[in-house]
Amino acid sequence: MEKNLECYAVEFEAVSTYYYGERRPAIRDITLRIPAGVLALIVGPNGAGKTTLLETILGLLRPRNGRVVTLGYEIPRMASRARALSSYLPQDFMKPPAEPFTAREVVAMGLASNNPAGRLSEGDWKRVDRALEMLGMLEYADKPFGKLSGGQQQKVLLARAIAREPKLLLLDEPFSAIDQETRSHIVSEIFPSLLEDGCTILLVSHELDHSHIDADMIIRMADGRIERVIARDVHAIH
Ligand SMILES: Nc1ncnc2c1ncn2[C@@H]1O[C@H](COP(=O)(O)OP(=O)(O)OP(=O)(O)O)[C@@H](O)[C@H]1O
Ligand SMILES: [Mg+2]
Repeated sequence: MEKNLECYAVEFEAVSTYYYGERRPAIRDITLRIPAGVLALIVGPNGAGKTTLLETILGLLRPRNGRVVTLGYEIPRMASRARALSSYLPQDFMKPPAEPFTAREVVAMGLASNNPAGRLSEGDWKRVDRALEMLGMLEYADKPFGKLSGGQQQKVLLARAIAREPKLLLLDEPFSAIDQETRSHIVSEIFPSLLEDGCTILLVSHELDHSHIDADMIIRMADGRIERVIARDVHAIH
């Protein structure tokens, strides 16, 4: 099966993922369907398996058991196809302070990976600047990435993820260094506009209070399992 025509962004069937040399699975026996076009919040304590879940979705970690389909592509067999349509902002993003690339170049790298020969068109550079502007980082575009503050770096990496215009956006604790004002702007302006364009957003958070996030689905994980899924009738909404 090359392409799955069902409208799920992510499908897991009895999936378990182990880290190399570990006897205990980091996520175990997970069955889950995330419809396309929703904002799904993934919550749970440290070690619950949230990051492992995201990395299994992209095939960065290989599931030992079960079936994973991302954007209609079998994982890991067709993972490169799924990854080309996705953006992933990992949890540990800090770059060494000597990073020589400017903020604009860092965002541009997000587009280069999908372009033949890594060359960017004029339109691509416009997308880069638009993404920087959305995050309020255009005025820092020419500054070396390593000389930005932690929160500013996180905004630039979020701009890079958005500039790719992904079908699937995976964000692992994207707000850890971001101030309240920017956070509300992202949640109330940027996320809705991405959802409107048909993007599916998976947002990992271990914040206890996530009432400010208008999630279509809340996936609560604990000890490598899904403890609870709360979903609203997403088809009625998007
Ligand atoms: N590289 C690794 N090697 C072995 N075990 C790992 C590795 N990374 C994570 N684990 C284990 O897998 C389990 C799930 O970890 P994971 O990083 O997915 O949790 P998490 O929910 O993202 O936690 P946090 O909120 O701290 O980011 C934990 O028990 C953890 O100890
Ligand atoms: Mg994590």
